[in-house]
Amino acid sequence: MGPGPITVDPRVLRAMSAQLVGQYDPAMTAYMNETMALYRSVFRTANEQTFLVDGTSRAGIEAALVSLLSPGDRVLVPVFGRFGHLLREIAERCGAEVHVREVPWGEVFTLEQLEDAVREVRPKLVALVQGDTSTTMNQPLEGVGEICHRHGALLYVDVTASLGGNAFEMDAWGVDAVTAGLQKCLSGPSGSAPISLSPRAVEVVDARRSTEAGLRADPDSTEGLAPPAARIRSNYFDLAMVMDYWSEKRLNHHTEATTMLYCARECARLLLEEGVDASVERHRRHGAAMLAGVQGLGLRVFGDLAHKMHNVVAVWIPDAVDGDAVRAAMLGDYGIEIGTSFGPLAGKTWRIGTMGYNARKDAVLVTLAALEQVLRGAGADVPVGGGVLAAQAVYA
Ligand SMILES: Cc1ncc(COP(=O)(O)O)c(C=O)c1O
Repeated sequence: MGPGPITVDPRVLRAMSAQLVGQYDPAMTAYMNETMALYRSVFRTANEQTFLVDGTSRAGIEAALVSLLSPGDRVLVPVFGRFGHLLREIAERCGAEVHVREVPWGEVFTLEQLEDAVREVRPKLVALVQGDTSTTMNQPLEGVGEICHRHGALLYVDVTASLGGNAFEMDAWGVDAVTAGLQKCLSGPSGSAPISLSPRAVEVVDARRSTEAGLRADPDSTEGLAPPAARIRSNYFDLAMVMDYWSEKRLNHHTEATTMLYCARECARLLLEEGVDASVERHRRHGAAMLAGVQGLGLRVFGDLAHKMHNVVAVWIPDAVDGDAVRAAMLGDYGIEIGTSFGPLAGKTWRIGTMGYNARKDAVLVTLAALEQVLRGAGADVPVGGGVLAAQAVYA
């Protein structure tokens, strides 16, 4: 019950144990095409270029940023938690001219703040996290794409922690590039990063296209290739080459991580069988029950509750209690993992998730019952049954 990775859905585990097939086996290429279509529905986009980057979520982030940003490009990174700092760090490593705006942890940006920053910086790209697990905040995105486009910027969004548990509408919200992961609300393991690029973003990537010499009919010819200075500064994360691999060209690049493809496909199938809106509603309901439950135990909740993600809550560790000892007792005595925190919140808050396969009534109630016992054992004064009662009231 931490902020991810979380318990994997048994159907995903079964998909991961399926036999491998060759990368050009018709079954494999059919799975690739099917997976592209599934993630179009998950991201709510018509973007042709919707596929997987092999690697954990930050592989998707690196691929998007290194492919979209050339050295010297101006990028605006609004930071409201740890993962905004990660975007900044990756954009800096791309050699971009990075402009950061920050709000305190526990808050989000208003549209006005974002538009002022875009007007001042005039970036080529705005890079934003939707749900930052470090603070539990969910940045509203409606209107941000329109602002970016009005000022000639592209919008990139990291939805690793929020996708499937909170509304996300790629096309309706004008998002040009999005990357995700499986280990949060999608009930899978880490190791695959679904990605989608708008035609506008594809245009930027295409202008930097280069094909490895060993794949060209004439390795000495550079016809149709971007000049060396314009090339994407990574081979593995060169999205122009990755797109060629996922397209009908099937131009070899890496060897697709077959098991992760099975897994990403099954995660999307599960989500779409439930329905994206139904999944968001399930996360809202169980997240509301967990929130009420921790409050019912007398714990103080961190951050602006009006902008909290549905799938995780951060609570202040009571003064008299040893936070690590409580986490150890939850795990050792009850087999339940809850999360610690990063940076300015390290040692000060716990983070409790209700995401993916764990966004269930039994998981919420058992966690609250266990937490009550562990807190009492640690010397905290907690109301008898306060957590479970409060959560049950939400379910009533
Ligand atoms: C919002 C966000 N972005 C990126 C990441 C990094 O993901 P990974 O550890 O899979 O590379 C995480 C992980 O928790 C995250 O929550």
